[in-house]
Amino acid sequence: MHKFFASLSDQGLMLTYSDVRLRTTYSEVLPPDANLASRISRNVELRVPLISSPMDTVTTASMAIAMAEAGGIGVVHRGLSPEAQAKEIARVKNHLNARIEAPITVQQDETVSDVLTMRERKRYRFHSFPVLDGDGKVVGLVTGSDFDFCQNLNAPVRSIMTPLADLTVGQPGMGPREAFDLMNRQKKKVLLLIGENARLAGLYAFSDMKRIFARAEGQQSEFNVDAKGQLRVAAAVGVGEKALERAALLSRKHCDVFHIDTAHGDSRGVIETLKTLKAQYPDVDIIAGNVSSGDSAKRLADAGADGILVGQGPGSICTTRVIAGIGVPQVSAIYDCVRAIEGSGVPIVADGGIGNSGDMVIALAVGASTVMLGRLLAGTEEAPGETRFLNGMQVKDYRGMGSLGAMRESSASRERYGQASVLPQKLVPEGVEGIVPYRGPVRSVLDQYLGGIRSGMGYIGARTVSELSDRAEIFRITNAGLAESHPHDIAITTEAPNYQRS
Ligand code: XMP
Repeated sequence: MHKFFASLSDQGLMLTYSDVRLRTTYSEVLPPDANLASRISRNVELRVPLISSPMDTVTTASMAIAMAEAGGIGVVHRGLSPEAQAKEIARVKNHLNARIEAPITVQQDETVSDVLTMRERKRYRFHSFPVLDGDGKVVGLVTGSDFDFCQNLNAPVRSIMTPLADLTVGQPGMGPREAFDLMNRQKKKVLLLIGENARLAGLYAFSDMKRIFARAEGQQSEFNVDAKGQLRVAAAVGVGEKALERAALLSRKHCDVFHIDTAHGDSRGVIETLKTLKAQYPDVDIIAGNVSSGDSAKRLADAGADGILVGQGPGSICTTRVIAGIGVPQVSAIYDCVRAIEGSGVPIVADGGIGNSGDMVIALAVGASTVMLGRLLAGTEEAPGETRFLNGMQVKDYRGMGSLGAMRESSASRERYGQASVLPQKLVPEGVEGIVPYRGPVRSVLDQYLGGIRSGMGYIGARTVSELSDRAEIFRITNAGLAESHPHDIAITTEAPNYQRS
């Protein structure tokens, strides 16, 4: 791969997705066996290498939940007030309850009938209750089967429960993954976490855990959860003082990743904000961008970035390259940045310009760890905004964060494009506003993309995302080669779910 890019760069030639393809090679990998796990940043893992863009027509809580449930992650945009953005983050983090911190308990001397009445009155959907003695110590567990087979409703709960000595229990610090494995091995539906002096420290319920960890039939990935079993989420914070205020609120909601999102990541403001956030939040990964050359990526990595976004102007709604005359075609930009920080352990996010799953395979093959999607997700149900009809077609709005509309509405968008103090009538947009076709729930759209990535990995014999970049060989194609790559000489009568010609 290096020789290919070196010879191009000697000629000052830079390429993008439609300019290249990957060579197939001997493979022992079937697409379903490909492992799509990757990382958005040094410490935050993903089960699939897909990220939704921090744009006001792409990512709020609904999209971030769907992305994490598909194994990826969403970056909640910052066109919202810090308080509103923090609420979106809290919605994602509170969406699942892997570990119940304060389970509903019953007293050992209560009658079975009392417990059943209480359960009905409070409309609890669960049937298992830890049983306590008068000192608040756990003495056992009573479950749905105990109630089902109980002959005497006036008997005390202690007479039908399984006593503590016969239960499989966990330590208070047991993480959800370890608990799930233990419950699977021992076929336990409920696992109590017991601390010193038989105090109850929490509870795991197998039905919830299964939703989180088990690959559901027909789904291609597991949920992307943190150590506590909550969905992972990232948030755009921007630069300077305002970024620090936002970060303070977001960290209280346990946001996993902060994204210093700017149009020009190789700048003093970004590097200073990065250093300050790194010092203030050692437990949160900080990603930063956007850049498009190796030097810039290296400066961000040296300043402590845990992940770097590459892409200046490739996006479907971007006009930066036309307005400002800058930017590097995306495939060359990714390669240059990957190579410049090789060995640093800092992953690259390929951001913008992805038009189909083939582009995703190329971005990963060139060395990006993940891809960030705007347009491809903007038409889905989970993207903010209503669907409407236009010329008989169901559509959703999609706009650049540097478009006039976005910049007029939000100071964060103006800041992103360095125009915080520009009068509204003098704003210089670097993006456009448009529509995309409505595409239904994001899960089915993502399944198509993930299937496409798996297929690419199968053709190249790559079991993992990093093997993909190790094994891939890239070559340039001509316009004739590109035309040959798309359906040709035919009128399409039945559209495929994973192919749209723009
Ligand atoms: P796609 O191609 O997935 O691109 O729609 C999404 C990415 O585009 C970037 N972005 C912009 N770039 N002007 C720009 O030059 C804009 O107004 C703009 N809005 C978003 C951003 O990196 C996003 O992830």
